[in-house]
Amino acid sequence: MITAHDFPSAHVADAAGMDVVLVGDSLAMVALGMEDTSEVLLEEMLLHCRSVARAVKSAFTIGDLPMGSYEIAPAQALETAIRFIKEGRMQAIKLEGGKEMAPTIEKITTAGIPVLGHVGLTPQRQHAFGGFRVQGKTAASAMQVLEDALAVQKAGCFAVVLEAVPAEVASIITKKLSIPTIGIGAGNGCSGQVLVQVDMTGNFPPGRHLPKFVKKYGDVWSESFRAIETYRDEVKSRAYPAPEHTYPIAEEELKGFEE
Ligand code: KIV
Ligand code: NA
Repeated sequence: MITAHDFPSAHVADAAGMDVVLVGDSLAMVALGMEDTSEVLLEEMLLHCRSVARAVKSAFTIGDLPMGSYEIAPAQALETAIRFIKEGRMQAIKLEGGKEMAPTIEKITTAGIPVLGHVGLTPQRQHAFGGFRVQGKTAASAMQVLEDALAVQKAGCFAVVLEAVPAEVASIITKKLSIPTIGIGAGNGCSGQVLVQVDMTGNFPPGRHLPKFVKKYGDVWSESFRAIETYRDEVKSRAYPAPEHTYPIAEEELKGFEE
Protein backbone atom coordinates (compact mmCIF):
# COMPACT_ATOMS: atom_id res chain seq x y z
CA MET A 1 0.00 0.00 0.00
CA ILE A 2 1.16 3.50 -0.79
CA THR A 3 -0.36 6.95 -0.46
CA ALA A 4 -1.29 9.18 -3.39
CA HIS A 5 -2.67 12.69 -3.28
CA ASP A 6 -3.43 13.66 -6.88
CA PHE A 7 -3.76 12.33 -10.44
CA PRO A 8 -0.04 11.87 -11.26
CA SER A 9 0.93 10.34 -7.90
CA ALA A 10 -2.00 7.92 -8.13
CA HIS A 11 -1.28 7.12 -11.78
CA VAL A 12 2.32 6.08 -11.08
CA ALA A 13 1.36 4.08 -7.97
CA ASP A 14 -1.28 2.13 -9.88
CA ALA A 15 1.01 1.61 -12.89
CA ALA A 16 3.80 0.32 -10.59
CA GLY A 17 1.50 -2.39 -9.28
CA MET A 18 0.41 -1.19 -5.86
CA ASP A 19 -2.46 -3.33 -4.50
CA VAL A 20 -3.89 -0.45 -2.48
CA VAL A 21 -3.74 3.33 -2.91
CA LEU A 22 -4.53 5.37 0.20
CA VAL A 23 -5.48 9.03 0.01
CA GLY A 24 -4.05 9.74 3.46
CA ASP A 25 -4.73 12.92 5.36
CA SER A 26 -0.91 13.26 5.27
CA LEU A 27 -1.73 15.15 2.05
CA ALA A 28 -2.28 18.10 4.40
CA MET A 29 1.51 18.33 4.71
CA VAL A 30 2.82 16.77 1.50
CA ALA A 31 0.37 18.36 -0.97
CA LEU A 32 -1.08 21.40 0.80
CA GLY A 33 1.90 22.60 2.88
CA MET A 34 0.02 22.52 6.18
CA GLU A 35 1.73 22.02 9.56
CA ASP A 36 -0.18 18.86 10.46
CA THR A 37 -3.24 16.83 9.49
CA SER A 38 -5.65 18.66 11.80
CA GLU A 39 -5.99 21.55 9.32
CA VAL A 40 -7.22 19.64 6.26
CA LEU A 41 -10.94 19.99 5.47
CA LEU A 42 -13.34 17.27 4.40
CA GLU A 43 -13.97 19.11 1.11
CA GLU A 44 -10.21 19.24 0.44
CA MET A 45 -9.89 15.50 1.07
CA LEU A 46 -12.80 14.81 -1.30
CA LEU A 47 -11.26 16.94 -4.07
CA HIS A 48 -7.99 14.99 -3.85
CA CYS A 49 -9.82 11.64 -3.63
CA ARG A 50 -11.62 12.39 -6.89
CA SER A 51 -8.37 13.18 -8.70
CA VAL A 52 -6.81 9.94 -7.39
CA ALA A 53 -9.87 7.91 -8.39
CA ARG A 54 -9.60 9.18 -11.99
CA ALA A 55 -6.04 7.80 -12.25
CA VAL A 56 -6.42 4.40 -10.59
CA LYS A 57 -7.37 1.53 -12.87
CA SER A 58 -6.69 -1.58 -10.76
CA ALA A 59 -5.64 -0.74 -7.19
CA PHE A 60 -8.12 -0.73 -4.30
CA THR A 61 -8.71 2.87 -3.20
CA ILE A 62 -9.12 4.06 0.40
CA GLY A 63 -9.85 7.58 1.65
CA ASP A 64 -8.72 8.78 5.09
CA LEU A 65 -11.44 10.49 7.18
CA PRO A 66 -9.99 13.82 8.36
CA MET A 67 -10.10 14.99 11.96
CA GLY A 68 -13.48 16.45 12.85
CA SER A 69 -15.43 14.55 10.23
CA TYR A 70 -16.25 11.39 12.21
CA GLU A 71 -15.64 11.67 15.98
CA ILE A 72 -18.90 13.28 17.06
CA ALA A 73 -21.24 10.35 16.48
CA PRO A 74 -21.51 7.17 14.38
CA ALA A 75 -24.16 8.89 12.24
CA GLN A 76 -21.78 11.76 11.45
CA ALA A 77 -19.07 9.25 10.55
CA LEU A 78 -21.41 7.30 8.24
CA GLU A 79 -22.47 10.52 6.51
CA THR A 80 -18.82 11.39 5.93
CA ALA A 81 -17.99 7.85 4.76
CA ILE A 82 -20.82 8.01 2.22
CA ARG A 83 -19.40 11.28 0.87
CA PHE A 84 -16.02 9.55 0.39
CA ILE A 85 -17.72 6.88 -1.71
CA LYS A 86 -20.12 9.09 -3.68
CA GLU A 87 -18.10 12.30 -4.08
CA GLY A 88 -14.56 11.05 -3.45
CA ARG A 89 -15.13 7.97 -5.64
CA MET A 90 -13.22 5.81 -3.12
CA GLN A 91 -13.89 2.12 -2.48
CA ALA A 92 -13.26 2.17 1.29
CA ILE A 93 -12.42 4.56 4.12
CA LYS A 94 -9.87 4.64 6.93
CA LEU A 95 -10.37 6.11 10.37
CA GLU A 96 -8.13 6.39 13.40
CA GLY A 97 -8.85 4.93 16.83
CA GLY A 98 -9.40 1.72 18.76
CA LYS A 99 -12.07 0.42 21.16
CA GLU A 100 -13.84 3.78 21.39
CA MET A 101 -14.45 3.78 17.62
CA ALA A 102 -16.06 0.30 17.56
CA PRO A 103 -19.69 1.55 17.34
CA THR A 104 -18.67 3.94 14.55
CA ILE A 105 -16.89 1.21 12.57
CA GLU A 106 -19.93 -1.05 13.01
CA LYS A 107 -22.23 1.69 11.75
CA ILE A 108 -20.17 2.27 8.60
CA THR A 109 -19.46 -1.39 7.76
CA THR A 110 -23.11 -2.30 8.32
CA ALA A 111 -23.97 0.25 5.62
CA GLY A 112 -21.70 -1.65 3.24
CA ILE A 113 -18.65 0.59 3.29
CA PRO A 114 -15.36 -1.23 4.02
CA VAL A 115 -13.35 0.31 6.87
CA LEU A 116 -9.58 0.17 7.37
CA GLY A 117 -8.69 0.66 11.04
CA HIS A 118 -5.65 2.55 12.33
CA VAL A 119 -4.23 1.92 15.82
CA GLY A 120 -0.94 2.43 17.65
CA LEU A 121 0.29 5.95 16.89
CA THR A 122 -2.70 7.84 15.50
CA PRO A 123 -1.36 11.21 14.27
CA GLN A 124 -4.70 13.04 14.51
CA ARG A 125 -4.33 12.61 18.32
CA GLN A 126 -0.71 13.78 18.49
CA HIS A 127 -1.52 16.46 21.07
CA ALA A 128 -3.06 13.86 23.40
CA PHE A 129 0.03 11.65 22.99
CA GLY A 130 2.36 14.61 23.63
CA GLY A 131 3.84 14.33 20.13
CA PHE A 132 4.72 11.51 17.76
CA ARG A 133 5.55 8.73 20.23
CA VAL A 134 6.11 5.05 19.58
CA GLN A 135 3.20 3.12 21.13
CA GLY A 136 3.30 -0.29 22.81
CA LYS A 137 6.77 0.06 24.35
CA THR A 138 5.64 -1.36 27.70
CA ALA A 139 3.70 -4.58 28.32
CA ALA A 140 0.66 -2.55 29.40
CA SER A 141 0.82 -0.25 26.38
CA ALA A 142 1.36 -3.19 23.99
CA MET A 143 -1.71 -4.84 25.52
CA GLN A 144 -3.69 -1.67 24.82
CA VAL A 145 -2.65 -1.65 21.14
CA LEU A 146 -3.63 -5.36 20.90
CA GLU A 147 -7.02 -4.67 22.51
CA ASP A 148 -7.63 -1.78 20.10
CA ALA A 149 -6.72 -3.97 17.11
CA LEU A 150 -9.00 -6.77 18.31
CA ALA A 151 -11.82 -4.27 18.90
CA VAL A 152 -11.67 -2.76 15.40
CA GLN A 153 -11.49 -6.28 13.92
CA LYS A 154 -14.59 -7.29 15.88
CA ALA A 155 -16.36 -4.10 14.79
CA GLY A 156 -15.90 -5.10 11.14
CA CYS A 157 -12.63 -3.61 9.82
CA PHE A 158 -11.24 -5.57 6.85
CA ALA A 159 -7.65 -4.70 7.85
CA VAL A 160 -5.87 -2.44 10.32
CA VAL A 161 -2.89 -0.08 10.10
CA LEU A 162 -0.37 -0.50 12.93
CA GLU A 163 1.68 2.70 13.19
CA ALA A 164 4.90 3.13 15.20
CA VAL A 165 4.85 0.07 17.42
CA PRO A 166 7.82 -2.22 18.18
CA ALA A 167 8.28 -4.93 15.53
CA GLU A 168 7.83 -7.81 17.99
CA VAL A 169 4.57 -6.34 19.28
CA ALA A 170 3.25 -5.84 15.73
CA SER A 171 4.22 -9.45 14.85
CA ILE A 172 2.35 -10.86 17.84
CA ILE A 173 -0.70 -8.69 17.11
CA THR A 174 -0.62 -9.85 13.47
CA LYS A 175 -0.64 -13.51 14.63
CA LYS A 176 -3.52 -12.88 17.02
CA LEU A 177 -5.71 -11.18 14.40
CA SER A 178 -7.59 -12.85 11.56
CA ILE A 179 -7.62 -9.67 9.41
CA PRO A 180 -4.42 -8.36 7.74
CA THR A 181 -2.24 -5.78 9.47
CA ILE A 182 -0.64 -2.98 7.43
CA GLY A 183 2.51 -1.74 9.13
CA ILE A 184 4.14 1.68 9.09
CA GLY A 185 7.05 1.79 11.52
CA ALA A 186 5.93 -1.61 12.79
CA GLY A 187 8.52 -4.04 11.37
CA ASN A 188 8.29 -6.73 8.71
CA GLY A 189 6.03 -9.08 10.68
CA CYS A 190 2.90 -7.25 9.55
CA SER A 191 0.81 -8.66 6.68
CA GLY A 192 1.55 -5.63 4.48
CA GLN A 193 3.23 -2.22 4.58
CA VAL A 194 2.25 1.38 3.79
CA LEU A 195 4.45 4.42 3.17
CA VAL A 196 3.77 8.04 2.25
CA GLN A 197 4.70 8.31 -1.43
CA VAL A 198 6.58 11.64 -1.35
CA ASP A 199 8.69 10.31 1.55
CA MET A 200 9.69 7.03 -0.10
CA THR A 201 10.33 8.59 -3.54
CA GLY A 202 12.39 11.40 -1.98
CA ASN A 203 10.19 14.13 -3.42
CA PHE A 204 11.11 16.78 -0.83
CA PRO A 205 13.98 19.26 -0.37
CA PRO A 206 17.17 18.24 1.44
CA GLY A 207 17.19 18.74 5.20
CA ARG A 208 13.68 17.55 5.95
CA HIS A 209 13.42 15.30 9.00
CA LEU A 210 12.04 11.87 8.21
CA PRO A 211 10.70 9.34 10.71
CA LYS A 212 13.07 6.41 11.39
CA PHE A 213 10.86 3.93 9.53
CA VAL A 214 10.96 5.72 6.15
CA LYS A 215 13.23 4.24 3.50
CA LYS A 216 14.07 6.65 0.69
CA TYR A 217 13.82 4.54 -2.48
CA GLY A 218 14.33 7.46 -4.87
CA ASP A 219 15.50 11.05 -5.21
CA VAL A 220 12.66 12.65 -7.15
CA TRP A 221 13.36 16.12 -5.75
CA SER A 222 16.97 16.13 -7.02
CA GLU A 223 15.87 14.91 -10.45
CA SER A 224 13.19 17.61 -10.75
CA PHE A 225 15.60 20.23 -9.42
CA ARG A 226 18.30 19.23 -11.92
CA ALA A 227 15.82 19.30 -14.83
CA ILE A 228 14.40 22.74 -13.95
CA GLU A 229 17.85 24.23 -13.29
CA THR A 230 19.16 22.93 -16.64
CA TYR A 231 16.09 24.34 -18.40
CA ARG A 232 16.71 27.73 -16.77
CA ASP A 233 20.38 27.73 -17.91
CA GLU A 234 19.57 26.56 -21.45
CA VAL A 235 16.89 29.23 -21.92
CA LYS A 236 19.35 31.90 -20.82
CA SER A 237 22.15 30.56 -23.10
CA ARG A 238 19.62 29.98 -25.96
CA ALA A 239 20.68 26.29 -26.14
CA TYR A 240 16.94 25.62 -25.76
CA PRO A 241 14.89 25.54 -27.91
CA ALA A 242 17.26 23.80 -30.40
CA PRO A 243 16.34 23.36 -34.11
CA GLU A 244 14.68 19.99 -33.35
CA HIS A 245 12.23 21.75 -31.01
CA THR A 246 11.37 24.35 -33.66
CA TYR A 247 8.84 24.43 -36.56
CA PRO A 248 10.43 25.04 -39.99
CA ILE A 249 9.19 27.27 -42.82
CA ALA A 250 10.17 26.85 -46.53
CA GLU A 251 12.79 29.38 -47.63
CA GLU A 252 10.72 30.97 -50.45
CA GLU A 253 7.78 31.39 -48.10
CA LEU A 254 10.04 33.11 -45.63
CA LYS A 255 11.35 35.41 -48.37
CA GLY A 256 7.79 36.32 -49.32
CA PHE A 257 7.01 37.04 -45.72
CA GLU A 258 10.18 39.08 -45.03
CA GLU A 259 9.55 41.29 -48.08
O1 KIV B 1 -2.24 9.86 6.20
C1 KIV B 1 -1.54 8.90 5.86
O2 KIV B 1 -0.76 8.94 4.90
C2 KIV B 1 -1.67 7.65 6.64
C3 KIV B 1 -0.80 6.49 6.33
C4 KIV B 1 0.65 6.79 6.46
C5 KIV B 1 -1.18 5.27 7.09
O3 KIV B 1 -2.50 7.62 7.51
NA1 NA C 1 -3.59 9.50 8.01
